[in-house]
Amino acid sequence: MTLIDGKAIAEQIKQEIAAEVADILAHGGKRPHLAAILVGHDGGSETYVANKVKACETCGFTSTLIRFEDNVTEETLLDKVRELNNNADVDGFIVQLPLPKHISEQKVIETIDYRKDVDGFHPINVGRMSIGLPCYISATPNGIMELLRRYDIDTRGKKCVVLGRSNIVGKPMASLMMQKAYPGDATVTVCHSRSNNLKEECRQADIIIAALGQPNFITADMVKEGAVIIDVGTTRVADATRKSGFRLNGDVKFDEVSPKCSFITPVPGGVGPMTICSLMKNTLLAGKKAIY
Ligand code: GUN
Repeated sequence: MTLIDGKAIAEQIKQEIAAEVADILAHGGKRPHLAAILVGHDGGSETYVANKVKACETCGFTSTLIRFEDNVTEETLLDKVRELNNNADVDGFIVQLPLPKHISEQKVIETIDYRKDVDGFHPINVGRMSIGLPCYISATPNGIMELLRRYDIDTRGKKCVVLGRSNIVGKPMASLMMQKAYPGDATVTVCHSRSNNLKEECRQADIIIAALGQPNFITADMVKEGAVIIDVGTTRVADATRKSGFRLNGDVKFDEVSPKCSFITPVPGGVGPMTICSLMKNTLLAGKKAIY
């Protein structure tokens, strides 16, 4: 069994990006600039955004954090999005989700200029991805593709089961794994909370990508000998032994599943670090005006 070290790969990629930024600057180019809008004080979102800002420093990017309180109006937020669309110094930006209930996330996403949508959530980017055109690909699926590539994991003709059908992970993941490319060329099945034969589908899978958000859902009896397991789950569970009071729990029962696998991602340290790294890669693309 090989443990997929997402943390190490992510560090390596950030160094590669930093080297490219240094090269851009040496040739008189502009330092890439990522802006992030954070609404409210949700603990998870605060941590994610702080980590994104930190990763920008490592990569040599400029970053700007824009904060609003929970009671910000939709119009004020949309005005800020329009302002960033028109700010030539900002190459790409994100609006951290989730947003308070009185704000339409879809309206916000669709107001972002797709050329600055480094999250890859705008319908133009989603549509382009699904037909294999140059675009920003959402961070988690893109990070998983990078792990498969860097570990040279064979995906061609393999049966890949994606668990979960979210717009951010499950759907784009399925789309990428079926694309005519490497990684890709897999036979993809998407299972979700309404699927009848989920366990049986998993037992037949060469590759399982679990993004359900249900801790320890995948047990050893659901996994074929030699399977590749990618665990996207990051549910916070109470843990009094930790300073934070919680730990992150994956969708896979790691201790019993890992001995059966050819490759497996740990939680934490697997997919998670790659997600921010993918955002950095998209910001570099934005800085180079590669998506237009
Ligand atoms: N909330 C959880 N994941 C993400 C992400 O990738 N981007 C944004 N903007 N918000 C998120």
